[in-house]
Amino acid sequence: MISLGYAEWGWPELRAAFLASMRPADASSSTRLLSDAFQSLGYGPCLLPLNLGRSALRLVLDAQRRLAPQRRLVLLPDYVCPSVVSTVRLAGLEPVPVPVAADDLNMLPEAVSSMISHETLAVIAVSMYGVPVPLEEIAASCRRSGAILVDDAAHAVGIRRGDLLLGCGGDAGLLSFNQSKTITGGSIEGGGLLIINNPALQKEIFDNLHRMARATGRPVEVLSFVLNHLCDRFAYPPEVYTGQLRRRFGLPVPARPEIGPALISNAAASAVLAQLPRLPAILDGRIRIAGWYGELLPRIEGLEFPQGRPGRYLSRILVRLPPGTEAKALQDALRTHGVRTRLGYPDWARQRKPEAPELIELPMRLAMSKPDVAKVCGALAKELARVAQGWRTERRPRVGSGE
Ligand SMILES: Cc1ncc(COP(=O)(O)O)c(C=O)c1O
Repeated sequence: MISLGYAEWGWPELRAAFLASMRPADASSSTRLLSDAFQSLGYGPCLLPLNLGRSALRLVLDAQRRLAPQRRLVLLPDYVCPSVVSTVRLAGLEPVPVPVAADDLNMLPEAVSSMISHETLAVIAVSMYGVPVPLEEIAASCRRSGAILVDDAAHAVGIRRGDLLLGCGGDAGLLSFNQSKTITGGSIEGGGLLIINNPALQKEIFDNLHRMARATGRPVEVLSFVLNHLCDRFAYPPEVYTGQLRRRFGLPVPARPEIGPALISNAAASAVLAQLPRLPAILDGRIRIAGWYGELLPRIEGLEFPQGRPGRYLSRILVRLPPGTEAKALQDALRTHGVRTRLGYPDWARQRKPEAPELIELPMRLAMSKPDVAKVCGALAKELARVAQGWRTERRPRVGSGE
């Protein structure tokens, strides 16, 4: 089974996370070590390691709301992770969708320029899957209207826009260490990093820090991350089976509670620290795999690889399906070839036309060889050719969820 790759963990990360999760929360200096490590990579100087990337966003939005209470709108890409949208809403603000470019999935600076106003509190500029968003033009719009700029580099660690690391270019910025990012500290609270450049925001955030808790990160959470995200090549995550059982017996499947901002856990911080020495190898490996996809995907008729460019880092591989393709049926068919996929983010803004093509994510893990990539592309080509001939995949009952 070629699975998606939620994390590039080996023994060093497993060992570090389990040992750290057994230590009492306050007995560790891992938070300070993590800040020091990211400062020496060129992030900083004002950094705050948190339980999640969305916590960084929440702290910034809450702080800026106290500083500019008359502003209520937040501009963000119309293609983005739902957690970004829900964080804006949880902060009591109104998310405003900005169209993204078809070829790199990043928000269009000219759209920001025309949509920004004196009511805009913040612009969240995401470098989608690690492709740098053109920040300078967006920053100019923010300066003109008095909105703050958040350089959201959740997906990428160690990638630069010119001389500047992604995440360091706004009033504030963030990285995420949650599953499926460049560096992974675990899940559900895999960790994140807040980078603060604006002195007013720094003061407002640090003056209110005493209210914040430390993330939990107990051994059971590390174990659940291992079962749910690292063993997915061998079986579906236990959550899938328990969900199926609950549905069979008519029991409700509990929704995940929203997690509020907290400091990073020992376990997540230690796993990130154990992984950092491998950052250059992770970046090189993904550039190599994205390059193989870049060679093979354009040969498949009707399929687009919007972010594919030679030599470009991508944290995930997203392809745009030919119009009319039933993405879920295609996923089922690809699974019969031993290839797992995941749908792209949902259309939160409901702006895209219903007939617009959908994005699906293809596997990318460092252990993949060029023949593995060829196998994925071969399966995709075969199934899309069948779709083109009018063949519809017979819907089998879906085993997986969240894919
Ligand atoms: C662009 C972007 N920003 C922020 C986040 C939130 O990160 P986290 O899951 O660590 O809260 C995500 C999550 O995937 C994201 O894609």
